[in-house]
Amino acid sequence: MTACAAAARANRKSEPRLVLIVGAAGQLGEVTAALFARRGPTRSLTRAELDLTNHGRVLEIVDDLRPSTIINCSGYNQVDAAEDEYIAAIEANAFVVRSLAKAANRVGAGLVHYSTDFVFDGDASTPYRETDRPNPRSVYAASKLMGEWFAADAPQHYVLRVESLFGGLTRRKGSLDRMIDAIQAGQPVRAFTDRVVSPSYVWDIAIATATLLARHAPAGLYHCVNSGSATWYAVAEEIQRQLQVEATLEPSTMQVAALKAARPRYCALANDKLSAAGYPMPTWQDALSRAIAARQPSGQDALTMADDCVTASLP
Ligand SMILES: NC(=O)c1ccc[n+]([C@@H]2O[C@H](COP(=O)([O-])OP(=O)(O)OC[C@H]3O[C@@H](n4cnc5c(N)ncnc54)[C@H](OP(=O)(O)O)[C@@H]3O)[C@@H](O)[C@H]2O)c1
Repeated sequence: MTACAAAARANRKSEPRLVLIVGAAGQLGEVTAALFARRGPTRSLTRAELDLTNHGRVLEIVDDLRPSTIINCSGYNQVDAAEDEYIAAIEANAFVVRSLAKAANRVGAGLVHYSTDFVFDGDASTPYRETDRPNPRSVYAASKLMGEWFAADAPQHYVLRVESLFGGLTRRKGSLDRMIDAIQAGQPVRAFTDRVVSPSYVWDIAIATATLLARHAPAGLYHCVNSGSATWYAVAEEIQRQLQVEATLEPSTMQVAALKAARPRYCALANDKLSAAGYPMPTWQDALSRAIAARQPSGQDALTMADDCVTASLP
């Protein structure tokens, strides 16, 4: 290290420590980066800036930046492709998290990591709690469960299980966003009647993350989904109702779709633990109305609303 770099690093030690967001170009990464940048010093890195499978580079960057918290928004999310590309899925969803936990421990940083409802088998009939036993049924699901275990190697960790993301900024769209697009465009929409989900608005996840950190909530595993649950078909009906347009909704089933990887049938998640820690998640219908409003040119700015929400949820 040159004298100049050493001096710069020494100076940085007296500055407030920043939040490092990795995987920052994804659906959740973009909004998390935007919200945290509004609230304090952050550094957001996309895959082009930091490929997290380069484990040595991860340690170097974290050692250099000395963040207070690392928020990992990266992931390999191609559920069907993972059945064949299992090495890539396990590397991205598990071993990347192991490096991040190791890097966090070296500088005394907290680690936020996002997992999934898919860790459950979907055989339940009441919402899953954090204490329920996972039973993954696909390569993707098993790789995400391994990621949860590795994240827990960081003493100050938050593993937040999210599900069916929607409402991101620009680049990526989830199934629910594509449903809104199709219904708005008057196209027919096919939706499962036999898969129950608790959709998660990315802005609400970012608010919950910021709130847990700001309140120094106990480390651990939290279900971080909007409140309530519905079949995908009922979600499509609610979109149609809120948009006030006539749409052709076609009921379908997972059996007919014959997807390569197994999906859990029933995946409502109970979020009471998150609520007790300081952030009661709004219902998915409320989140949907905000996501639809944010799409209008005259709609309220989602970032400003999210920032206000974090402030309001602090003691
Ligand atoms: N989407 C969902 O419905 C859902 C459901 C349950 C759980 N989750 C979890 O929630 C988190 C966020 O999901 P998301 O929907 O926002 O994902 P996303 O839109 O697919 O974004 C993931 C990001 O990770 C980046 N990435 C992948 N491999 C990387 C690597 N080796 N190094 C650095 N960056 C890498 C991707 O980079 P590129 O932009 O270059 O591809 C992408 O920007 C993930 O942990 C995911 O597993 C998501």
